[in-house]
Amino acid sequence: MSYPYQINSLEAYYKAYRKSVEEPEVFWAEIAEHFNWYKKPKQILNWNFIEPKVTWFNDVKLNITENCLDRWAESQPDTPAIIWESNHPNEAHRIITYRELLHKVNLFSQVLKNNGVQKGDRICIYMPMVPELAIAMLSCARVGAIHSVVFGGFSAQSIADRIHDASCKLVITADGAFRGNKIIDLKNTIDDALVQCKSVEKVIVLTRTREPISMIKGRDIWWEDEIEKIEANGYPFFIPEVMDAEDPLFILYTSGSTGKPKGVVHSCAGYMVYTNYTFVNVFQYQHGDVFFCTADAGWITGHSYIVYGPLSAGATSLMFEGIPTFPDAGRFWDIVEKFQVNILYTAPTAIRSLMSFGTGFVDAKNLSSLKVLGTVGEPINEEAWHWYDTHIGKNKCPIVDTWWQTETGGIMISNLAGITPAKPSYATLPLPGIQTLLLDENGIPLKGSDASIEELPHEMASGNLCIKFPWPSILRTTYGDHERCKLTYFSTYPNLYFTGDGCLRDTEGNYRITGRVDDVLNVSGHRIGTAELENAINQHSGVIESAIVGYPHDVKGQGIYAYVIYQGNLEDKKLVAADINQTVTRIIGAIAKPDKIQFVSGLPKTRSGKIMRRILRKIAEGESENLGDISTLLDPEIVQAIVGERI
Ligand code: PRX
Repeated sequence: MSYPYQINSLEAYYKAYRKSVEEPEVFWAEIAEHFNWYKKPKQILNWNFIEPKVTWFNDVKLNITENCLDRWAESQPDTPAIIWESNHPNEAHRIITYRELLHKVNLFSQVLKNNGVQKGDRICIYMPMVPELAIAMLSCARVGAIHSVVFGGFSAQSIADRIHDASCKLVITADGAFRGNKIIDLKNTIDDALVQCKSVEKVIVLTRTREPISMIKGRDIWWEDEIEKIEANGYPFFIPEVMDAEDPLFILYTSGSTGKPKGVVHSCAGYMVYTNYTFVNVFQYQHGDVFFCTADAGWITGHSYIVYGPLSAGATSLMFEGIPTFPDAGRFWDIVEKFQVNILYTAPTAIRSLMSFGTGFVDAKNLSSLKVLGTVGEPINEEAWHWYDTHIGKNKCPIVDTWWQTETGGIMISNLAGITPAKPSYATLPLPGIQTLLLDENGIPLKGSDASIEELPHEMASGNLCIKFPWPSILRTTYGDHERCKLTYFSTYPNLYFTGDGCLRDTEGNYRITGRVDDVLNVSGHRIGTAELENAINQHSGVIESAIVGYPHDVKGQGIYAYVIYQGNLEDKKLVAADINQTVTRIIGAIAKPDKIQFVSGLPKTRSGKIMRRILRKIAEGESENLGDISTLLDPEIVQAIVGERI
């Protein structure tokens, strides 16, 4: 069975796109009819990109969990909502139906309420990839609290910064997490973080690894005990909080070009409509399909395409706790075979990494259930695309290359599986509702970049990617600092949302994202701000100054190259580099550790003191000769010295 708003032909795509541009409010109002509202929308859109202020479906009343749970628990109670596969292949998997998921969310919502959580409170979630993570998110949404999920790989300091920024009242965590053959001690990290966070009153701890942890009297409580108390009192149903369209649903922190991560805020109604619409259309989901998104719920991909998009569509979402290479590099394919996965959505990094193990781990597996493949998070190179197509899709599964961002909430540019054409390494066409524009650095729209998608052929264009009209899940603000939202996204080009990405458009109107044009790296699909990382490295007692650039990396897409001016004994460079890595792990988390650290005596700077990253980037890429104009440097000789000691 398909969905009434599912696009089923190329013509239908063009028609939907045209309508979304010509009559955007009518277009989205019709889609909104397929959701449960306490009060139906009349005001569809109000916006300006100057303040910026955007509201969608402003006068509705809703609760997103009613759309993700109650309506499916009624119409298809026994359909699996979540299939969970453990990190350990021998541990039993779990299947949670819509009826059961609703029940579990009702119980945990009551736990939150019993512990003083109220509408609008901020809750930090730092958990392993277990169904209780989705239950925690949905329960926050049910009581009207705003969740802020922090990825399990972040350090105590990063968590503390995020808790502090949002003044979180409560933390939901677990004793630990399994990741491959490692145990991550989540609770200890939370304990370290909370030393600095006075706003947190309670910590709810789920049992997962059974590692010894300390439970602080009056603050820490066990998830299981709390549930037991409620079951004993017989609370079967939790009435969802009535929410306004623009009430925040969640905060998700992401790195930018300045030092401090920012809390991207998404609101209830628009986010729900858009994640649902894109899920159904991009992947061409049919009721009963098993959808496997391999992302961690700590990132936007997990929020939108493990939890809210699939569940609001009554889909079966497969959640995997482990990593692709444990116990061996065939794990994804075992899971596909075991659960007859129909749609697989993963990152180019994972594909490149698995590709490096050869096809031995794939060939014997039965992958015939697969119908659609997807990628997200970074550009996919043609070699990886073809490997995915040949060895996983057996040349019969369309591949959707989905471009979007934490800030966009849902997929923005992508082919629709089997409906609009794919082109390797291109995200291809904008989705209905997404009005793209390419500009040069001076803000001049590039010739042909503004043409209608149907006027072919286009003139080739390459520039900075902007969006000129709001879509329902555009970020609403950056938490506690609206000015920052304005400056980061809406000020580079007046009246436009600036993505921070460079982009090329071919003669057929297909978009190819070429990468960030700001000081943000994309390492294995994770955003790392160079300024944030430099600040962390500079906290090492021996470091005087540092500069971070990206360089092409076979598996990660981009690797991190650090140039460090160090004061002190450099006899054992490896040891000093390990110390610096340890500092980064402490301050940000292991995901931000540089791949290479080069110790230098100086950095190429202009007379005004600005580091010429362009030169450092070229050196990191292996270039020695064509480094561009270095005559404006304060000390041009430093360049050859750095080239000479490159690692
Ligand atoms: O540079 C783009 C890249 O990832 C950035 C967004 O990162 P994040 O907010 O962490 O969200 C990642 C998951 C949606 C973008 O600015 N990016 C994302 N998808 C693609 C991509 N680059 C190329 N192709 C993609 N499909």
